[in-house]
Amino acid sequence: MSNVDYDLLQSQVRALLSGETDALAATSNFVALLFTALDDVNWLGVYVLRADELVLGPFQGKPACAHIPVGKGVCGVVASTHRTQRVADVHEFPGHIVCDADSRSELVVPLQLGAELIGVLDIDSPTLARFTDADQRGIERLCAAFCELLPKGDERFI
Ligand code: SME
Repeated sequence: MSNVDYDLLQSQVRALLSGETDALAATSNFVALLFTALDDVNWLGVYVLRADELVLGPFQGKPACAHIPVGKGVCGVVASTHRTQRVADVHEFPGHIVCDADSRSELVVPLQLGAELIGVLDIDSPTLARFTDADQRGIERLCAAFCELLPKGDERFI
């Protein structure tokens, strides 16, 4: 059962990112805000798409895998399909990549500018089936707001 007020979080994301002109600063604050707002999460961060791999970006939690090939692990599957993966038990996901052994469930959301994938948001929890359908919808909306407000103009996202 989700106890997060996603409407409030949505306005906090908008307030935090409005006026920010640097993509790295915007992404770092977005990650920190979500990590602080969500209970029962041991790792939360962004992987950035660079050529055919995901590269570790701003995150909160233990040091993690820095490079994930598109198509590999939960994050790589999201990068290749452009669709959210909500994994109730990571041990049941074929090819799951272990970064923090405490992680038991995971939510990975694509970050897109229109049809173009720029990266993924990855959230890990030590609790089985931590993420509800309401969490998925709320976090997908937050990611859409993040992508909309992300400072544009650089050749690369970060
Ligand atoms: N578990 C992810 C790897 C990233 S870490 O969880 C931070 C995956 O399978 O893609």
